[in-house]
Amino acid sequence: MDREKMTVPKFRAAKGKQRLVCITAYDEPTARLADQANVDLILVGDSLGNVVLGYANTLPVTQSEMLHHVRAASHGVKSALLVADMPFGTFQGSVDRTVEYACEMIKAGAEAVKLEGGKAVEAAIQRLTEVGIPVMGHVGMTPQSVNAFGGFRVQGRGNQADALAMEARRVADAGAFAVVLEMVPAMVAERVTSETPIPTIGIGAGVGCDGQVQVFHDILNLGTFHPKHARVFFDAGAAITNAISNYADSVRAGSFPTDEESF
Ligand code: KIV
Repeated sequence: MDREKMTVPKFRAAKGKQRLVCITAYDEPTARLADQANVDLILVGDSLGNVVLGYANTLPVTQSEMLHHVRAASHGVKSALLVADMPFGTFQGSVDRTVEYACEMIKAGAEAVKLEGGKAVEAAIQRLTEVGIPVMGHVGMTPQSVNAFGGFRVQGRGNQADALAMEARRVADAGAFAVVLEMVPAMVAERVTSETPIPTIGIGAGVGCDGQVQVFHDILNLGTFHPKHARVFFDAGAAITNAISNYADSVRAGSFPTDEESF
């Protein structure tokens, strides 16, 4: 049976009512499988760089790489809300240029965009929202700022907690419909969740957020790096290698293809 389509207003209204399930996907098969699993939101994350394109981090990811994958993922999505990450360099300049880049994401099939940062991106969030492009915020450990942070470090510890809560508040006040909290102490994320009027979506931020997001390749063990916050729900990496080994053995033994598999 077809599920009801998830929309931005429904996603926002779910705060405090249901836990929201979000996952990344990067092409038609990964988006289709996630959609069939009834997730609420699919993010074409710029983690594309790490888990699909083999880059060391998200900084080299370009707008055209993102558009290519947003277009592909959009073909697999029926019910989930499809969000596209704005890659590094597309929202640090003028707000007008940011709107142009975001429009390209919408034309490629996204229903909303995500951008990293708090105060620094307030004007961009306001303008995008005004022109009808819904925005998801992202605060805490924002991977595009890895050089400024000096590594992938937990953010919002100790006396940084107030500043982090303020960043989330600003993102909400600017018009974002949800905000990702990445690598934030669980207690701080819980506080931010209670003080922020929009859904908080945690990744490495504990169970007290309004929802969770994970990277597709992390929870299926398809990558080479395993973050502490990701549970492997199925070892698809091992299953795939095993299947391909079986194929190779069958070819070498002459048992594939059979008559039924031939013309
Ligand atoms: O790029 C990405 O996959 C993300 C999630 C980790 C939230 O930003």
